[in-house]
Amino acid sequence: MSARRLDLRTPAWFRRVVFYELSVRSFRDSNGDGVGDLPGVLDRLDYLRDLGVGAVWLLPFYRSPWRDDGYDISDHYSVDPRLGTIDDLATLVEAAHARGIRIIGDFVSNHVSDQHPWFQEARRDRGSPRRAWFLWSDTGKEFSRARTMFPGAETSNWTWDELAGQYYFHRFFASQPDLNYDTPAVRAEMLNVARFWLARGLDGFRCDAVPYLIKREGTACQSLPEVHQFFQEVRAMMHSEFPGTVLVAEANQTVPETVAYFDQGREFDMVMHFPLMPNLFLALAEKNPRRVLDVLRATLPGVPPECGWAYFLRNHDELTLGQVSADERALFLRFYDPAHGSEIYNGLRRRLAPLVGGDDSSVLLLTALILALPGSPFLYYGDEIGMGDRLDLPDRDPGRTPMQWTADPSAGFSSAPADRLTRPLVTDPAYAPSVRNVADEERVPFSLLGHMRNLLRVRGAHAAIFGRERFVGVDLGESPVLGFWRPGAEYEVLCLYNFSEEPVAGDVPLAPSVWAAPVELVRGGSSSTLGDAGYHFRLSRRGFSWTLFPVRSPPAAA
Ligand code: NOJ
Repeated sequence: MSARRLDLRTPAWFRRVVFYELSVRSFRDSNGDGVGDLPGVLDRLDYLRDLGVGAVWLLPFYRSPWRDDGYDISDHYSVDPRLGTIDDLATLVEAAHARGIRIIGDFVSNHVSDQHPWFQEARRDRGSPRRAWFLWSDTGKEFSRARTMFPGAETSNWTWDELAGQYYFHRFFASQPDLNYDTPAVRAEMLNVARFWLARGLDGFRCDAVPYLIKREGTACQSLPEVHQFFQEVRAMMHSEFPGTVLVAEANQTVPETVAYFDQGREFDMVMHFPLMPNLFLALAEKNPRRVLDVLRATLPGVPPECGWAYFLRNHDELTLGQVSADERALFLRFYDPAHGSEIYNGLRRRLAPLVGGDDSSVLLLTALILALPGSPFLYYGDEIGMGDRLDLPDRDPGRTPMQWTADPSAGFSSAPADRLTRPLVTDPAYAPSVRNVADEERVPFSLLGHMRNLLRVRGAHAAIFGRERFVGVDLGESPVLGFWRPGAEYEVLCLYNFSEEPVAGDVPLAPSVWAAPVELVRGGSSSTLGDAGYHFRLSRRGFSWTLFPVRSPPAAA
């Protein structure tokens, strides 16, 4: 099994690459049983390389009864047999590394499946040492300020267990009892789980449900100091025993609480930018990007030099509105859920393309934006081809349907018949495999996939500046255009995004002495000239541009 690390000497490699989140179950089925698997991912590594992906985040592939799509683990040390074997994982990691692609897994540390032997032992015997691995109560009244994460599906964080003769605590579904992090053996075990997979070649983890590990009476039971202590321990272990690996936080909290997960470079290497995400969609609805610049100005200075934000538009969960105001939520729902069909828990269970009405320009505008910010973008599988969703599926499954590789009846996902797939295919005529699939989009040069590949290629060629260098917002007054500079040592890139539904023109002031002739890196519906007022741009509706300005070398000293 290979534990080889790529580019060990590359500091902060994760800020140079584009991440791609995928569900092994739904990506590609290699053996015709209707369920995607690890050899299926292996089979599609060249596709990911050609797309320009530098790191893949595999959603949980561990043994699980799949009551929460793998976030309910029943054995932390094995691969779910439906998805493959540990050897398949090793083969995948090695083949990915050979292509310059890193693989990270999911570190699900807050809870386990109720089928897990740890929980089964604990509930059967009050005297068992496992009992203290979970949280029990005779009344089910403790920690009443901890909100339930799946309102509508669960009404309490406590569930009565007949066999145990007590209530047990669960922050998520009742089938996911929380671990008790006040028990030292739990902390030690979870560190060993991390070691186990890193020793098998994983390049790091996206950490699930980070804020909720520690519970204290009288608090909201989130982001407490001991949570930070635990993840600092995980990171210290990783950096000393597995250098070059990355730790990414899923922490959907307020701005200060979210920024705190970097803890001045001692804790997470990357933190998912939950505060920005809903604001991108709100800005699109308002046709005004001001709020985006405000959030960036508030959150970029807090990032330690070797760390970075992880940006995303969509993922496998609902588009969460947990951090927006009531007014913003109302605006959001009016704009993005006019038919009231897609609300769940704290947000909307829709994929990117249907959210924006199938408008490729809007998909590209938002993608080109997260590709150009300091830090790294995370793409969600299928969004690069404009896949749709199936609102008739339960829970958050609408956006977890099989990847659409071809127009075939089973979408090239599997050789099994369409009615035997792990989840049914999208049927909406605007997004079905016959209309949106990789094979057809590869044939057409100006397809959404073609544009995506081009964006990722350009971002990759200038990764040093996009991932790592500075960010300077441009004040464009009341214009619907978001503008910022990414200044670097040899050149600066000007990024412009038109959030309105109309074409727009404007000027960005330049200091003529500083700049040589600009080069357009990408033109998503733009044209420009250098004039007396500076850089004059024209952007089509929802158009964008990235323009490179070489920095003139200082005159040689006399
Ligand atoms: C966050 C994951 O993204 C979500 O899918 C899951 O249901 C919860 N955490 C619980 O693990």
